Amino acid sequence: MSMRIIGTGSALPEKYVTNNDLAELVDTSDEWIRERTGIGGRHVSTGETVAELAALACGRALADAGRRADQVELLIVATCSPETGIPSVACQVQSSLGAVNAVAFDLNAACAGFLFALHTAWAYVQSGICRNALIVGAEVLSKLVDWTDRGTCILFGDGAGAVFAEQCDRGGILSFVQHSDGRKGEVLRCDSRALTNPYVRGVMQSPWVKMDGREVFSFAVRQVPTGITEALKQAHLKAEEVELFVLHQANFRIIEGIARRLGLDADRFPMNLDRVGNMSSASIPVLLDELNRAGRLKEGMKLVLSGFGAGLTWGACVLNWQREC
Ligand code: COA
Repeated sequence: MSMRIIGTGSALPEKYVTNNDLAELVDTSDEWIRERTGIGGRHVSTGETVAELAALACGRALADAGRRADQVELLIVATCSPETGIPSVACQVQSSLGAVNAVAFDLNAACAGFLFALHTAWAYVQSGICRNALIVGAEVLSKLVDWTDRGTCILFGDGAGAVFAEQCDRGGILSFVQHSDGRKGEVLRCDSRALTNPYVRGVMQSPWVKMDGREVFSFAVRQVPTGITEALKQAHLKAEEVELFVLHQANFRIIEGIARRLGLDADRFPMNLDRVGNMSSASIPVLLDELNRAGRLKEGMKLVLSGFGAGLTWGACVLNWQREC
């Protein structure tokens, strides 16, 4: 028993912010941002919530798959920027979609969140707990970013991407690897509320994203190729047999570094970060949706999905793009 993706969808906030717009806020330039990251612009929420963007992306993934919301059996939202601690974003999405028969919950693995959610759904489907799953990565990171910190505010964007997947006898997802290293948590961090109750007066730490960019950069270039190689080995495939590597969209130099370490040309690594920036857990499913809608995903094509980020967390998945049963 395996699981195949049969529909994709995405949603982005209306407001678009260019690098030149950011240069009016902080001491930076379009040239610096493009040279160091490859990012040219990003969508920024002016009111759209994580739950709204996620629900839109999910509706589009269901329409693409030709399935109804009441057929969904599992709904997982990967996010690290929910508006509410409770209820979960997934339960809000379930309600707005009318996915009345789904079990719904959130999962946080930062920028690797979509991969971790897809892996979880695969485990549920493989074990027979459910027959299908709606998996979404959704973020409004603009509310976690310090808009006076030029080292971070230039990197991130808001958006959501979703896939609908269902069980299949063979093919579909071929292998998966997941890793975490909590010892390196400090390199990319965002504090939550301080402990304040009648017995203690908490001190609020800075609620904004703090990052050691160089550490994150070298972690990604070192660990991601190892994870991909491990997943390829499990799937009995060589890197050369994979048509497209759909990676987390953090920085074009990271993606090129990963391609080099795998001994591959960067043209097998599609990118959209020039237009949408780093959308954390939404990056991979939004890019997958763009590729799907552009007709670039052909039946039987081998793909690698790979995400990495805060935690630290990273993972990779090898799949056979197989919409026909
Ligand atoms: N505009 C102009 N200058 C900037 C800047 C900006 N937006 N951000 C930082 N700088 C400056 C720094 O202040 C520093 O100046 P100094 O030499 O006078 O001290 C200089 O540029 C170099 O900074 P540094 O941090 O060494 O640059 P870098 O080449 O490492 O690039 C990142 C910074 C953030 C682009 C890069 O480290 C990166 O992409 N890391 C990965 C981050 C990431 O992807 N995080 C999310 C993972 S999910």
